[in-house]
Amino acid sequence: MNKNNIGLDKKEVVTVVGLGFVGSAMSVAISTSKNNMGKNNFVVYGLEQKNKKGKELVKEINKGIFPFKNEDLSLEKNLKKSVLNKSFTATTDNKIINKSDIVVVDIEFNIDKKNKDSKQNLKKFIKSISKIIFLMKKDSLLLIETTIPPGVCEKIIHPELNKILKIRSMPKDSISLSFSYERVMPGIAYLDSIKNFWRVYSGINKKSKLLCRKFLTKIINTKKYPLKELNKITEVETAKVLENTYRATNIALIDEWSRFSEMIGVDLYDVINSIKVRPTHNNIMYPGLGVGGYCLPKDPLLAEFSARNIFNFKRIKFPITNMALDINAKSPLELIKIIKKFFKNKIKNKRILVLGVSYKEDISDFRNSPTIEFCEKFRKHIGNIFCHDPYIEYKKERNIIFSPNLSQFKKSDVIVFAVKHNMYLKLNIIKYLRNSKALIIDTSKILNDSMKKKLKEKKIKIFSLGKGLN
Ligand SMILES: NC(=O)c1ccc[n+]([C@@H]2O[C@H](COP(=O)([O-])OP(=O)(O)OC[C@H]3O[C@@H](n4cnc5c(N)ncnc54)[C@H](O)[C@@H]3O)[C@@H](O)[C@H]2O)c1
Repeated sequence: MNKNNIGLDKKEVVTVVGLGFVGSAMSVAISTSKNNMGKNNFVVYGLEQKNKKGKELVKEINKGIFPFKNEDLSLEKNLKKSVLNKSFTATTDNKIINKSDIVVVDIEFNIDKKNKDSKQNLKKFIKSISKIIFLMKKDSLLLIETTIPPGVCEKIIHPELNKILKIRSMPKDSISLSFSYERVMPGIAYLDSIKNFWRVYSGINKKSKLLCRKFLTKIINTKKYPLKELNKITEVETAKVLENTYRATNIALIDEWSRFSEMIGVDLYDVINSIKVRPTHNNIMYPGLGVGGYCLPKDPLLAEFSARNIFNFKRIKFPITNMALDINAKSPLELIKIIKKFFKNKIKNKRILVLGVSYKEDISDFRNSPTIEFCEKFRKHIGNIFCHDPYIEYKKERNIIFSPNLSQFKKSDVIVFAVKHNMYLKLNIIKYLRNSKALIIDTSKILNDSMKKKLKEKKIKIFSLGKGLN
């Protein structure tokens, strides 16, 4: 902990709790915020758990190394600067909370998909928040960014806050409480997606809203991306859950249209592009292998959890949301059917190479990755499945065999382009294929037209999701 910064200068002290994919990038965004004189607005501390993973994250960050491999070079550059000029320090010592004017919470909130009404995850989350509140100083601001079931802040955290303040003999609401969800997009514009993007926020009272607004205005380019204040925190929590449910449902919708297009031989990309020109329809999704990442497979479940377990409407159902989640979960399995059909069910000794394991292009996050789902299920049918990913260094992850280079290319019967990593867009496939005649599966328009033409000239079959065999 860098004691020299505390008290010696007038910069506000911010602690970001949780240095995962969101918190580590948010810490960099806060620590690079400058005032009109070009001086740093904040001294930032990133707080992690005292376990092995937490300690490793802290060590990496304090060396100036961004802990999650990605394509955004500005992130590591800015992290290095912030660590060097001591505007950002990572720690596992929670005493720093007591010195902080603002505490930003970026820890996880999980939901048990097999036991959707289990309150264990909520209890764990509230326990962490309570510990933080016990350490916070008077007149400070608690800003929660974690995606949580609507109602958690108003119905649970706010009463808990005042209960703790009473125990600590502090005036009611003498710590402010606000909520503003993250829209960060890990990948090529990781840091930019925090600083240059719209934000929605609210607070438990006028003061909380004001402090939150003041804080976010110093980090986000609000001239170009004005902040949106909602009346109640529950509305902001709902906005995040609906935002992600909308996206997950949009993806599920296209899944069934992909199968239809493959059957009747139309190019769904061309169909979608012709629809997208209508401004009302311009965010229709393209075909793909399914949904992954930490957020989209779980966030849609938070509304049902909230209705049943926070607001006590036990009989409410979310049929569209649940069906969309179901379709998205099964989406990678469609690929198995496609491969089986191509080889007329004779796939036992086939060798498959899957390119891209992360859930999204140009990042190392493989939580709930559709590729992993595909590999695990496919393993039941055949034994020889290899994966490659330029961002994932593990030799073996969840029983997946990683191929460190592309040597498997020429030995494979099927090559699945699963993730649109920059590296795969530039790949000279012909060179790697040599004389092999593997079936190439393109899950998300990774191959460009000129590459497809060259492959066709070599009589190599390509199956594109949303288009079929050509
Ligand atoms: N990953 C994304 O792209 C993304 C985008 C928008 C919103 N979100 C939301 O942001 C939140 C965080 O997501 P994430 O991807 O960063 O998760 P993550 O699992 O990568 O990071 C959470 C971190 O918090 C730490 N942590 C947990 N409890 C703690 C405690 N009590 N004290 C200190 N540290 C603690 C964990 O060790 C972990 O490193 C989630 O609610 C998620 O849904 C994520």
